[in-house]
Amino acid sequence: MVKRTRIKEVLESTAFGSEVTIKGWVRTFRNNQFIALNDGSTINNIQAVVDFNNTDESLLKRITTGAAVSVTGELIESLGKGQKVEVKVKSIEILGDCDPEEYPIQPKKHSLEFLRENAHLRFRTNTFGAVFRVRHALAFAVHEFFNQKGFVYMHTPILTASDAEGAGEMFKVTTFDIGNPPRNEEGEIDYKQDFFGRATNLTVSGQLEGELAAMAFGEIYTFGPTFRAENSNTTRHLAEFWMIEPEMAFYDLVDNMNLAEEFIKYVIGYVLKNNREDLEFLGQRLAEEEKQKPQNERSELGLIEKLEFVTNNDFERITYTEAIDILKNSKQNKNKKFQYIIEEWGADLQSEHERYLVEKHFKKPVILTDYPKDIKSFYMRLNEDGKTVRAMDILVPGIGELVGGSQREERLDKLTARMKDMGIPAEELWWYLDTRRFGSAEHAGFGLGFERLVLFTTGMTNIRDVIAFPRTPKNAEF
Ligand code: 4AD
Ligand code: MG
Repeated sequence: MVKRTRIKEVLESTAFGSEVTIKGWVRTFRNNQFIALNDGSTINNIQAVVDFNNTDESLLKRITTGAAVSVTGELIESLGKGQKVEVKVKSIEILGDCDPEEYPIQPKKHSLEFLRENAHLRFRTNTFGAVFRVRHALAFAVHEFFNQKGFVYMHTPILTASDAEGAGEMFKVTTFDIGNPPRNEEGEIDYKQDFFGRATNLTVSGQLEGELAAMAFGEIYTFGPTFRAENSNTTRHLAEFWMIEPEMAFYDLVDNMNLAEEFIKYVIGYVLKNNREDLEFLGQRLAEEEKQKPQNERSELGLIEKLEFVTNNDFERITYTEAIDILKNSKQNKNKKFQYIIEEWGADLQSEHERYLVEKHFKKPVILTDYPKDIKSFYMRLNEDGKTVRAMDILVPGIGELVGGSQREERLDKLTARMKDMGIPAEELWWYLDTRRFGSAEHAGFGLGFERLVLFTTGMTNIRDVIAFPRTPKNAEF
């Protein structure tokens, strides 16, 4: 097999006169002469120039958009604008034909909706090439960040019997014939006869298991798929999404906020440094989209400027109570412009409120802390006031909630009382409660929705466009 060189490497080479072999997919073929070839290693195509006078007519006909080809030729300096090198073709082999009449991806700008319907082929476009290279870089940076800090990467189970968030938004898992499950004497489905001998579901979060590990390793993180059967058909929700959940012993809420802020700045900084060309392309894309919006709705900063701003400035930190005051007194609220009017303390914030705080009021990421206990999960540490918990959510412009976390309730009596109040059966979480029985300690953690991070970093606006095969209500085609 001939060694091939990736196009990214060839484009950076100055070894003029040397022979190279490149393999990729044809983007365009102009004037029977100029092939724009891409192999996914970079957003940029390489130009391969065919000597059409000395090439078989039948071969030329097969160089079509989408075809897989192997090209061997001489690396030469390019006289064309915007490219330093090109390849003067000596031989070309068609590896896989692509019928232009049938191939859905044409050399033109397709709508994102159209590409969603062709998600199996959309990686071959500039936009999705850039998005998924950035996604990869972010994932790599996540591991790099935690590894440098000595965190242990834990793999928590996907099949589980617990509901970590207590929100009941779970996909059930069973091996029963769902049309005819075995039933007990009361006529209820008899999960004792199921594979695990009990009812199970797909995990909504790895946090509870993460806490167990933090109580041994000190600092751990998870990074895996999580599943929520919430029927929210929005541009920010997926039924299957990836979450990063660090959990740290001996951390309080302030340590937790500091870590989360440093983490977000680090991974975005990594992409700014390593994915410049993809970000420039995505920035131009976004700028064009912004032009379609009315002037007052356009964002003031370009994509790269926005990311630089986030990495260079402190996040705002305020309590829920302070946020409610800001919202209550906002013109938006007084003029009844919010869909959900904030009237009293205790209400859960809707995404319109979150976005008002970050986009209109502070114009930067905001960490909101100390929420009322009644709108948060059972495991959060109760404050002295008996009304609020040591929760923190990080909100960012254009997205809303990116992170949800808290200092955990480490006091056994307080935790069991809270679970009782909320109707969470202690017998089912006996193993979780054991951490509070045996060497309990102050600890904290958070969960960051990976796709929301990719959305923020790429400037894309629909979460379906930053995960390869989105799972949303009525959509599991590919
Ligand atoms: O706020 P959430 O529900 O928190 C937890 O699951 C905690 N157990 C995390 C922890 O403390 N270890 O979810 C955390 C983040 C959200 O802030 C959001 O970014 C993302 O996960 N998220 C979703 N992303 C996409 N689609 C959904 N349906 C999401 N639900 C939550
Ligand atoms: Mg949350």
